[in-house]
Amino acid sequence: MDYNIAKFSHILALFMWIGSTSSIGLYFLYTLIKPSSYPQDEIRSFYRWMVNLEVLSLIVAISMGLWMLHLMKFRFDINWLNIKLLLVLFIILPLEALNFWFVNFYIPKAQEKERAYRMYDLFVLLISLPLIFVIIAIVYLAVFKP
Ligand code: HEM
Repeated sequence: MDYNIAKFSHILALFMWIGSTSSIGLYFLYTLIKPSSYPQDEIRSFYRWMVNLEVLSLIVAISMGLWMLHLMKFRFDINWLNIKLLLVLFIILPLEALNFWFVNFYIPKAQEKERAYRMYDLFVLLISLPLIFVIIAIVYLAVFKP
């Protein structure tokens, strides 16, 4: 796969990742202002689908990114890429792994569903703002390449 196809796929996968991430976040904020009449189980199933789409898109975006590094014969000698890799590997990936665990393991297995939902909502509230700043920082690095 040549470099431009990998870069094109990288950016398309990022659109899917940021699209699914922000749609959950915005809907979540909306239900804080205007609680939904939908049964919780249905809302949580929507969250689970979106989080799994989010994680799949991020895996594709990272795979295409790493493939570009391979084609560039990257030797950790490019400053913006080094910082970007640190932000992705030590902030984005662990948060997405926790997100994936919450919706696919913690909540489905929880005896007290209401408590599990509250724990997950607190997690989403706590990570949303830092995640937005980290994403802006990564896009800045990728575009301006300081
Ligand atoms: C391990 C993870 C990642 C790697 C190895 C990686 C690597 C790369 C590489 C090599 C490019 C092409 C640079 C160029 O040719 O101009 C690129 C472009 C880009 N990446 Fe990533 N990336 C990763 C994750 C991300 C993430 C998580 C985001 C968004 C939050 C992101 C946003 C972008 C953007 C916006 C571009 C286009 C920049 C431009 O066209 O100037 N990347 N990435």
